[in-house]
Amino acid sequence: MNLPNMLEAKKRSKNKVNYEYFNLDYSDKFKDKKYYIRTYGCQMNVHDSEEIKALLERIGFSETNTMEESDLVILNTCAVRENAHDKVFGFLGRCKHLKKEKKDLIICLCGCMAQEESVVNEVLNKHKYIDIVFGTHNINELPNMLLEKIDKLNINVKSIEGDVIEVGNLYKRDSKTSAWVNIMYGCDKFCTYCIVPYTRGKQRSRKSIDIINEVKYLKENGYKEITLLGQNVNAYGKDIENEINFSELLESVAKIGIERIRFVTSHPWDFTDEMIDIIAKYDNTMPYIHLPLQSGSDRILKLMGRRYTTEEYIKLYNKIKEKINNVAVTTDIIVGFPNETEEDFESTLNVVNTCKYDGAFTFIYSPRIGTPAASMEDKISLKEKEERLQRLNEIVNKYSLENNQKLIGSIQKVLLTDISEKDSKKLCGYTENMKLVNVECDKNLIGTIQNVEIIDAKSFSLDGIIE
Ligand code: 5AD
Ligand code: SF4
Repeated sequence: MNLPNMLEAKKRSKNKVNYEYFNLDYSDKFKDKKYYIRTYGCQMNVHDSEEIKALLERIGFSETNTMEESDLVILNTCAVRENAHDKVFGFLGRCKHLKKEKKDLIICLCGCMAQEESVVNEVLNKHKYIDIVFGTHNINELPNMLLEKIDKLNINVKSIEGDVIEVGNLYKRDSKTSAWVNIMYGCDKFCTYCIVPYTRGKQRSRKSIDIINEVKYLKENGYKEITLLGQNVNAYGKDIENEINFSELLESVAKIGIERIRFVTSHPWDFTDEMIDIIAKYDNTMPYIHLPLQSGSDRILKLMGRRYTTEEYIKLYNKIKEKINNVAVTTDIIVGFPNETEEDFESTLNVVNTCKYDGAFTFIYSPRIGTPAASMEDKISLKEKEERLQRLNEIVNKYSLENNQKLIGSIQKVLLTDISEKDSKKLCGYTENMKLVNVECDKNLIGTIQNVEIIDAKSFSLDGIIE
């Protein structure tokens, strides 16, 4: 049995949601089979895993949290930094070991790393126990690949991304309260250090009508919060003729009336005044912006291909802070880009001291094969880069703590989503401006928004009690 070719399916469905694709019956083949999935990397990958889970369950699999119990292990991988590669191949060692005891175990590698030619070669040469490899452009072909697997390695990675195909709301969402909603795939920015435009392909926006319908569906099904997802959400719609822009999309989604709307990630380059006004205008567009800086040195920003100066960035930052009430801003920073001098690094510290971020994800630059930066000469030692990272983190953590301490005694609206990881007697959730709060309260409050009084603050979380 074969799945219909997806492009033909798209023609038939004339851009409508293609449910037909899922009416095929695999239930006998995979009935009673279990899958175990491990996800590395960004929210995009987490959401892709939700799609993979839904596909597998449609064809008869059920999920297990114990790898030893599974018939299929899926590793959904990230390629942004080298250490992600090491972690995945470290874990594959465990899978190989398990396969010695369980001969029929199917091992599957997918996601961004699977789009890297060097990784595919590594699998072919060194990791022959892996059964299936598929990339970010052909998740929907997984059921077919499972059927076709007859004791041979099945590599199916597409270098060219297809059109966006709507397959309905087919995700096994991890949460019943907060949902990821893809608004676009890929990225056209080609920052010189970044592998994403190569692994995830060119920017492809979903149609606004499909996004709006998905958000309506989520609201009707009790979701309180949605996060619009894209590598560069502000550029939404620019790749489709006659499509609305991101501000218009945000406004349309806000009008649906779901309680909380968030979005990640923004690029400072495409961030418009109109966007700031919409976030300020609607109560349900949350006052939280993740605004990656990457470097505070204009020389390095230019080498990174970021297309803004620190002056432009700070101007945008100030506008956001002035216009959006209570807004929190976080960022991403890379230290040790090729030949970053002490002076360049200190410029980054200066911007951090100006913006006093609520939080920052900080990384040591990691050369990725095939990106322009990977062939730049670099004389800075790893030790020096590690020292810089430590200096940066100390400053970043100091501001996170200071910003959090300012909230002690205030009442914050918290959407309680989970049992706290730190203390199983508590629930945890996020304030409107994305601060994690641990709250001692009744477990029945999961999925509700509560007024919480903040009683203590640390760099990465707050403690609170129900008002
Ligand atoms: N090395 C280190 N950090 C990187 N990032 C992206 N590519 C690299 C790289 N080659 C960081 C950026 C980006 C975040 C998701 O990962 O800061 O915003
Ligand atoms: Fe990578 Fe730059 Fe695109 Fe972000 S905007 S995904 S850093 S290329």
